[in-house]
Amino acid sequence: MKEYKNVHILDHPLIRHKLAIIRDKNTNTKQFREVVEELATLMAYESFKDVPTQEIVIETPLETTKQTVVKENSIAIVPILRAGLGMVNGILSLFPAAKVGHIGLYRNEETLEPQEYYCKLPTGIEDKVVMVTDPMLATGGSASDAITMIKKRGCKKIKLMCIIAAPEGVKKVAEDHPDVEIFISTLDRQLNEKGYILPGLGDAGDRIFGTK
Ligand code: PRP
Ligand code: URA
Repeated sequence: MKEYKNVHILDHPLIRHKLAIIRDKNTNTKQFREVVEELATLMAYESFKDVPTQEIVIETPLETTKQTVVKENSIAIVPILRAGLGMVNGILSLFPAAKVGHIGLYRNEETLEPQEYYCKLPTGIEDKVVMVTDPMLATGGSASDAITMIKKRGCKKIKLMCIIAAPEGVKKVAEDHPDVEIFISTLDRQLNEKGYILPGLGDAGDRIFGTK
């Protein structure tokens, strides 16, 4: 993935440890949900290194000092439904003032093409740093379409956070949207004939919501 400057693999022993937990088919819904959230927090720490900041003046018990703080209201999170929802609280734990939009897309199981069914984005999103979340980047169709929808609303600074990515998905989004920074925690081997990531973790939405 060295050919794509906008792709960042957030490799860390703690991230690898948590990935092993969610890949395990014996991990139950409760733990799966918790660990997806924790992974989103860890990934947010790294992927918001350039978060907008501002200087404020505060009083310590001893003197007055100028300090740097995160700019309130500068961030929006947009999960791709359903599975992207599982990452939202993990990011909100670091950026509690972030606004949250929702984009509903599901993959047609035969064609693997994304179908849009919902879009509600916060007012003023065009002036914010937008983090799109989805645990799985498979063919890349869903993420690429979601980013296009957000760009149509006038957003200029968009990032994508996916826990597990296939090479096909990274290529698609990196080429469709070279201006979008893509953060993944691992690049898996390939897609199978049904569009599932290998080794992957199965269906992320079903595992987060316990639907199968
Ligand atoms: C999964 C996943 C992504 C999409 C990835 O969602 O959460 O949104 O597939 O596939 P792609 O990169 O090939 O587009 P799914 O369509 O299963 O919907 P769900 O989250 O409601 O289960
Ligand atoms: N969506 C998932 O939930 N899992 C995959 O492996 C691919 C797409």
